[in-house]
Amino acid sequence: MRGVFITLEGPDGSGKSTQAALLADRLQQNGWPVLLTREPGGTAVGLQLRKILLGPDNQLAVMTEVLLMAADRAQHVEEVIGPALENNMIVICDRYVDSSLAYQGFGLLGDISQVKAINEVAIRGLWPDLTILLDVQPAVGLRRHGLHSGRAKGVGLDRIEQRNLDFHQRVRDGYHQLQSMYKERFALIDTTLLEIETVAQRLWEIVVQRLGIEIR
Ligand code: TMP
Repeated sequence: MRGVFITLEGPDGSGKSTQAALLADRLQQNGWPVLLTREPGGTAVGLQLRKILLGPDNQLAVMTEVLLMAADRAQHVEEVIGPALENNMIVICDRYVDSSLAYQGFGLLGDISQVKAINEVAIRGLWPDLTILLDVQPAVGLRRHGLHSGRAKGVGLDRIEQRNLDFHQRVRDGYHQLQSMYKERFALIDTTLLEIETVAQRLWEIVVQRLGIEIR
C-alpha cells in the first residue's frame, strides 16, 4: 500500500502555491493525512540549492542548473516524498519533475531528452499519480506575480523569473506538450480569468474524481 502523489505545475504566477495550500487544507479537513512540500527547497540541503539556483547574481551553466534541480529532487524524494508515501500520506508537491522538463528542457535546451534521462535517475521511478497544470499566459502570470508581491516591474524577480517573455512562452508551450505526452497523469485548469476560489473548487473536483477519494 502506498499513498497518493499529487503535483502542481504551471508558469510563474499561475497561483500554484496558493492552490497547493488550499488543497492541502481541504484534504486535511476531510481527515486525510497530507504532506505539503515544494521544489526547489523541500529539504534542508534543498534550501541551500534553492539559494544557488534562484540567486539573481549567480551565473550558472545550463547543465549546472539541470543537475542542481535534479539534485534537489533526488534529496527530496529520498528524505521527504518517498517516506511520506510509504506512510500512506497524500503528498502535494508544488513543482516537481515536469518543472525541469518545461523550464530546463523546453525553455532552455529546446528538447527534453537529456533532462528527462537525468531526472529519471533522480526520481527512481517516482512519477506523480496526478499532475495539475495551472495554466496562465506568461504576461498575465508575471504581472500577477509582481502585483502580489508589490514589486516594481522586474525588481526582486529571481534568476529564472527574470528571463525574457520568449523563455516563459516556451515554458508554457512546453507544459502543453507535456500535457499531451502524459494525458493519463495530467489535468489542466486555465486560471487566466478565474477567481482563486473557482480554481480551488475545480482543482478539488479533479482530485476527488481522478483519485477516487471518498469525501468523509
Ligand atoms: P517557485 O517560484 O514556484 O518556488 O519556483 C522557483 C522557480 O524555479 C520558478 O521560476 C520555476 C523554477 N524551476 C525550474 O526552472 N525547474 C525546476 O525543476 C523547478 C522545480 C523550478
